[in-house]
Amino acid sequence: MEKIIIVGGNVLRGKVKPSGSKNSALPIMAASLLSTEPIILHHVPRLVDIETMAQVMEVLGAKVEWTGDHDLRIDPVGLSSYEAPYDLVRRMRASIYVLGPLIARLKKAKVSLPGGCSFGPRPVDLHLKGIEALGGKVSLEHGYIMVNADELVGAKMNLAGASGPSRGASSNVMMAASLAEGVTVINGAAQEPELIQLQDFINSMGGKVSGAGSDKLTIEGVSQLKGSEFEIMDDYIEAGTYLVAGAMAGEVVTVEGDFSTNLKPVLASLEETGARLEVSEGKVTVHGNPRPNAVNITTAPYPGFPTDMQAQMMAYLCRGRGTSVIRDTIYPDRFNHAQELLRLGADIVREDGSAFINGVEELSGAYLMASDLRASAALILAGLVARGETHVRRIYHIDRGYERIEEKLGQLGAEIRREEEE
Ligand code: EPZ
Repeated sequence: MEKIIIVGGNVLRGKVKPSGSKNSALPIMAASLLSTEPIILHHVPRLVDIETMAQVMEVLGAKVEWTGDHDLRIDPVGLSSYEAPYDLVRRMRASIYVLGPLIARLKKAKVSLPGGCSFGPRPVDLHLKGIEALGGKVSLEHGYIMVNADELVGAKMNLAGASGPSRGASSNVMMAASLAEGVTVINGAAQEPELIQLQDFINSMGGKVSGAGSDKLTIEGVSQLKGSEFEIMDDYIEAGTYLVAGAMAGEVVTVEGDFSTNLKPVLASLEETGARLEVSEGKVTVHGNPRPNAVNITTAPYPGFPTDMQAQMMAYLCRGRGTSVIRDTIYPDRFNHAQELLRLGADIVREDGSAFINGVEELSGAYLMASDLRASAALILAGLVARGETHVRRIYHIDRGYERIEEKLGQLGAEIRREEEE
C-alpha cells in the first residue's frame, strides 16, 4: 500500500486545472449501456472508480477502452449479461448506476446490494421505488437486487427521501425511463449539475429528457438510443478542494474552469471565512487566509453546501479564529476525518450529526490514516499547513477520486510525495 508524505509550511502559488468530474463520468459511462452504438467520452478522469466502472461494464458484455489519456471508447452492442457481481459492486457503490440501463436494455438485472461505506448506511430504497414505478418487479435475494420487467411504462413519481432527493436514484430512473413506453415525471429529483450532464448526454444519444437542474424531471421514452461523442465537465469538488488548499496555504492559487454556479455555496462560505476570491468566467483565484473567521456550515442537497466539501472545509477551519460548527444533514456520520485531524493537534468535538471545531494557532504533523475519499483529501490539506511531516496512509481512498493530487499540489509549490508504506 502507498502513502503520501507532506512537509507542511510551503506557500502555494500558481494555477491548477481540475480533471473531468468523477460523479458525472460514472453515471454517463453507465448510461452508455442504453445505446446500441459506440460512445466516445472526452475529459474522463483517470481514477480507480472509473476503472472499476469499466470493469463492471466489461463483465456485462460492453467493450471499454482508453483511446487517449482522458478519452474513452465504449461499445455497448455486446451487452448480454444482466449481473453486476458483488466483488465489483462492493468496491464502488456507484456500480448501482448500471441497474437502470440493464433493465431498460435487457428487462432484467441482478445487481449486488452496494452495502454501506465508511461514513454510514447508503440505502437504495429510492432507486427501487422508482424502478418499481416503471413496472420493474423487484426482489432482494442473497444480497442481490433482482429486477424483472415485461416492459417499462412511463409513470409519475416522487423520489425524495427523508434526507432529501437522491442523485443516484434520480439518475437510475432517468436512465431506465429514457427507453420506457410513454412519459415519466420524477418529482423530488436531485438538482446537482451532474444530473444536467446526464440529461444532456442521454439527449445527445437521441433521448428526450428535460428539467434537469430543477426538482422535476420529465422523460419521454424513445425506442432506441444511438451513438454519441460527449465531453465530461470539470470536477467542481476537485476544484473546490484546491481552492481550500489555496485559502489554507496559498499566497495566491488560481483554479481554471467556470465554477461560479457549481461551487456557489462553497465560494460564499470561503468568502465568509475572510478569504479573498476573484471569480471570473474561466477561473477562480483565491488569496491565502491561514487563520479563517469561524463559520457555520450545514450541508444540504444542491444548490445547498455539498456534503462532498465539508471535510475539506473542516481542515481549513481547524486554524479558525473561534469555534466553527459543521453539520452534515446528508450523511450525519461523515466525520472520520475529525478523529484524524485531532492527531495533528486540532480541537474538534463531535455531537450527533455535527462537529464543533475550536480553532487552534497551529497544527503539527503526524501519521494519519485515510478512510474515505473526501476525508483523505482533508488530511492532505491539513498536512500542507501542519508543522513538520504528515504521513497519510492508505491513500488508495484518494486515488478513487483525485487524479495525481500530489503532482497538482506539488506544481503549486507543496512539498509532497508518494511512497510505499513501510
Ligand atoms: C452521490 O452519491 C455521490 N456519489 C456522493 O459523492 C455524494 O456524497 C452524494 O451523491 C450526496 O451528494 C456519486 O455521484 C458517485 P444520494 P449517491 O443518493 O447518489 C439518501 C464522493 O465523495 N438515500 O444523492 O449515493 C442517502 O442516504 C461521493 O464523490 C436514501 O435514503 O447519494 C443520502 O442521505 C461520496 N435512499 C441522501 O439520500 C436511496 O435510495 C443522498 O444520497 C438513496 C439515497
